[in-house]
Amino acid sequence: MSIDWNPETKEFHLRNDRISYLVRVLENGALGGLHFGPALARERSYRHLSQGEFHGFSNRLGDPVALEYPTGGTGDYRVPALTIEAADGSTVLELAYVGHRIWPGKAPIPGLPSTYVERDDEADTLEIVCADTASGAEVRLSYTIFCDLPVVARSVRVRNAGTEPLRLLCVMSASLDLPDTDWDLVHLAGTWARERHVTIDRLQPGRRSISSFRGASGHEHNPFLALRRAWTTEAAGEAVGFSLVYSGNFLGEVEVDPFGTARVRLGIAPEGFSWRLDPGAEFAAPEAVLVYSDAGLGWLSEAYHRLYRERLARGAWRDRPRPVLINNWEGTYFDFTEEKLLEIASVAHDLGIELFVLDDGWFGERNDDTRSLGDWFVNRRKLPGGLNQLARRIEALGMAFGLWIEPEMVSQRSRLFVEHPDWAIGVPGRPRTEGRNQYVLDMSRPEVVDHLFAVLSDVLRSAPVSYVKWDMNRNITEPYSLALPPDRQGEFFHRYILGVYSLYERLMAAFPAILFESCAGGGGRFDPGLLAFAPQAWTSDDTDAIERLKIQWGTSLCYPLSSMAAHVSAVPNHQVGRVTPLATRAAVAFFGVFGYELDPTTMSAEERRGVADQVGFYKKHRHLFQRGRFVRLRSPFEGDGNETAWMTVAADSRQAIVGHYRILNRPSPGPGRLRLRALDPNASYRVSLWPATGDPIEQAGALVRGGDELMNVGLFLGATGDSPVIRGDFAARLFILEAIG
Ligand code: DGJ
Repeated sequence: MSIDWNPETKEFHLRNDRISYLVRVLENGALGGLHFGPALARERSYRHLSQGEFHGFSNRLGDPVALEYPTGGTGDYRVPALTIEAADGSTVLELAYVGHRIWPGKAPIPGLPSTYVERDDEADTLEIVCADTASGAEVRLSYTIFCDLPVVARSVRVRNAGTEPLRLLCVMSASLDLPDTDWDLVHLAGTWARERHVTIDRLQPGRRSISSFRGASGHEHNPFLALRRAWTTEAAGEAVGFSLVYSGNFLGEVEVDPFGTARVRLGIAPEGFSWRLDPGAEFAAPEAVLVYSDAGLGWLSEAYHRLYRERLARGAWRDRPRPVLINNWEGTYFDFTEEKLLEIASVAHDLGIELFVLDDGWFGERNDDTRSLGDWFVNRRKLPGGLNQLARRIEALGMAFGLWIEPEMVSQRSRLFVEHPDWAIGVPGRPRTEGRNQYVLDMSRPEVVDHLFAVLSDVLRSAPVSYVKWDMNRNITEPYSLALPPDRQGEFFHRYILGVYSLYERLMAAFPAILFESCAGGGGRFDPGLLAFAPQAWTSDDTDAIERLKIQWGTSLCYPLSSMAAHVSAVPNHQVGRVTPLATRAAVAFFGVFGYELDPTTMSAEERRGVADQVGFYKKHRHLFQRGRFVRLRSPFEGDGNETAWMTVAADSRQAIVGHYRILNRPSPGPGRLRLRALDPNASYRVSLWPATGDPIEQAGALVRGGDELMNVGLFLGATGDSPVIRGDFAARLFILEAIG
């Protein structure tokens, strides 16, 4: 790994064994982009890759020049990365190279989560300083290349080095000009209960964007996109990934110009954003993480998984095995007593479950969703001995205790709202829009964050709480802060998210032993920003096993198994009414951070035996399910979507578990085979099935198979639909592979 600067040719070359990233200083001082892709030889110049110089109207000079951090107003009519309004109202900017710095390691971004290194030899960083003399804007572009990953992390800081105030209107975290448009845009789209479905569009002339203006990254789009060639598969071909370490309003956009080039930009959504930058002040934009893969979408995902699991997530729980939990939400909703909770916990403990999580409804007068958010004191009618008594009784059973909170919200019917109506976001003189009967607190105000830190600290000190589920159930309307002057209202959304991050930071520092799980009406804020604080997130409110195939497949494009909470719930499923076998529900939820979301006291003895078996199986293979290499094999988004298959593989390839799911059974199926990946071709694997049934397929599968055969010929799925395991709809089987010898 290295970063070279060639003063003769004025080129920067960031390089490791897999990738090269090349930037060049053009004649007029602007930065040109030369290459982001496979590793190129160090000692050569690649200056010629950028044809011509940029002096405006690049389309008349031949090839459009690839610009590294484009600005507007001087003839590049593509979409800019940076727009600043100067004191005279003009928005013309001409950034020119001033200097640079290269150092081993990586620096944090003030106030924002970001990837990090533990040792300076894990990454090198280049910071290029550019300035616009007329306005006094000084821009620092930071690039970190990681040693053994195909990753470049970019971030941007803008400082006002002039004497007049500046107004930032758009500050993208990254912009990348690509020399051709022969790409598909891959992104994750959806809504509540069907988040992060893989969506693929061919690039077309014009601009195509994904975004959020909701105050959260949102259920609808994720701050992640990738470009892939039409012929790229999971295992082969080029792909470039763009992921934003941010939880608020974002924009990801691809512009295809008439000359066959593509510009990708990613950052805080410019819509509704502005930031007053007084002389001497600095603004830091969030980090964008770029990945180049020459080995398909699978390798792109693996790079994100490793980086986000090991060098974005922080705290004591980053590397620790996560507990199998039971959450009472779908089991009781708001209707519970201490005794009921203890009954659930007691049965759950007998089944091997390790953590009991008390969800919504434990505080204030919260018997439904119409009141009490903000009143973070225990409801003594439900829990007469308080949280402490409940938690201690649960601990006495041998389980840990976890708690749900929704810090950012306030109900109109709450003491907090009576005391501080001005803390609820709204515009004076306009009605506030309610969502789920609640308002959003103005997290941009430090006194709101201070208050929440104080009351939540009291709650977390009042009982032995080892896990917190931090929910957020509605998006922002009437964006406005009473604490900001009129010319700073454009800062509101970003300041809101900075407030959320600061509350997380303070609670994590005060309660370092607590495992945080983020949640936003399911997966409405499943993003890298929050993963830095909460190493796992509630993937979706949809707990139906069949719906989860698509949700978990899509989520895995960018996010590791250790981040995806997945629970078995009761049937008929509460979101879609589907009835699936208990084993299928577990076989899907195993691939992530496993738990239950039901009332086990209502289960039959046979179902309880099934749960005990599932919990035991998961615990035995927990490391593989939470930290194994996740390999996608058969997509629920391709063909008729009737089958899905994926696997998790140990780092040394000596163990793997394959999940195969078939939605509808069909008469007279052909002999099915599934080619695996990431195994050791020279190893011999013993193949067994879960659940074990002793049927002929299992006996055939229990044969010892070579890694080469399993990858090149395939795993035998069986020709008959008559097996008791695979008969019927919504069938799932897990194949456990263990290398022998
Ligand atoms: C939405 C979450 O996603 C659910 O799991 C549950 O915690 C409810 N909120 C509680 O209000």
